Amino acid sequence: MKVLVTGGAGYIGSHTTLCLLEEGHEVVVFDNLVNSSLESMRRVQDLAGRTVEFVEGDLLDASAVASVFSGASFDAVIHFAGLKAVGESVADPLRYYRTNVVGTLNLLDGMNAAGVRRLVFSSSATVYGASEDVPLPESLPLNATNPYGRTKEQIEDILTDISSADERWSIGLLRYFNPAGAHSSGRIGEDPRGIPNNLVPFVAQVAVGRHKAVMVFGNDYPTPDGTGIRDYIHVMDLAEGHLAALHFLKDRTGAFQWNLGTGQGSSVLEVIEAFSTVVSKKIPYEFAPRRKGDAALSYADASSARNQLRWTAKRDLARMCADHWNWQRSNPRGYDSSL
Ligand code: UD1
Repeated sequence: MKVLVTGGAGYIGSHTTLCLLEEGHEVVVFDNLVNSSLESMRRVQDLAGRTVEFVEGDLLDASAVASVFSGASFDAVIHFAGLKAVGESVADPLRYYRTNVVGTLNLLDGMNAAGVRRLVFSSSATVYGASEDVPLPESLPLNATNPYGRTKEQIEDILTDISSADERWSIGLLRYFNPAGAHSSGRIGEDPRGIPNNLVPFVAQVAVGRHKAVMVFGNDYPTPDGTGIRDYIHVMDLAEGHLAALHFLKDRTGAFQWNLGTGQGSSVLEVIEAFSTVVSKKIPYEFAPRRKGDAALSYADASSARNQLRWTAKRDLARMCADHWNWQRSNPRGYDSSL
């Protein structure tokens, strides 16, 4: 297949691009490098021993989008490009709605004009809002609680509507739980700009000495150890989920939703413990007040992806921490370390 990957230089995008290349597909990455690095593309090509066509461009630039499609005949698009920080979305909602929603509309116009109607979209379990009806099935009503989450929800609605209006579309909406880990080579991984908001990259930065201690947000939740429970999923499992979705969509039309999670919850303290084991030293932590908007627990009902896509997550929390650490310790300052 020839696949256009928007946001392919980012964290999940780079791992998925590698899997696509390894499976023999031809890949064009379209990325504005706002929150990603060209170095990730160099390393993906090294790992795969194959080249990726890279186009630096922004989905808000409709003519740049049109020119990617002109002359190329794509079989499918995987759409990762977008902004993803909850706090930033609360402070600057317009930027989030414009980048994520308008950017997607431009992409869809480009696809329509080129007659490409197979799309896998990077959604998020954040669309379930504060629901604690675990394990969370895809059938739950969507109820995002912040602008970032609402952009994901709105894009899901748009995609569902276009597939109802025109039955030629095949669309997979992938609702990721909590991505963590890195490729086992340690050459590509998550490279957050600034101080990470998410737990695993923060723990990794404490382990590498960039911060003194992990702040554990809340130890009074109604969970066994009082800390929040999430469904951490290895980024390579997620990447493989995209390939499974692409294959599923090949001879089907319509819009489908799939949770990509392990179906297992781990608490904040369990994550810190698993990471401590990998680095063979205690990772310091302190209890802090709950973070506003956090649910006590969230983990997936992963049965739809298992039954329909024949996909399940294969890597456990220990493996996630080991791979994340392998990446972090060989790249203490992310991709900058090599520049
Ligand atoms: C967050 C976002 C969510 C997004 C997801 C993946 C919020 C409220 N939600 O989910 O919309 O889809 O990331 O990018 O930001 N924790 C600590 N200390 C820390 C960081 C986190 O104790 O320094 C705790 C949190 O309270 C939570 C767990 O660790 O219980 C996981 O947090 P995080 O990695 O930020 O993911 P989510 O909150 O699940």
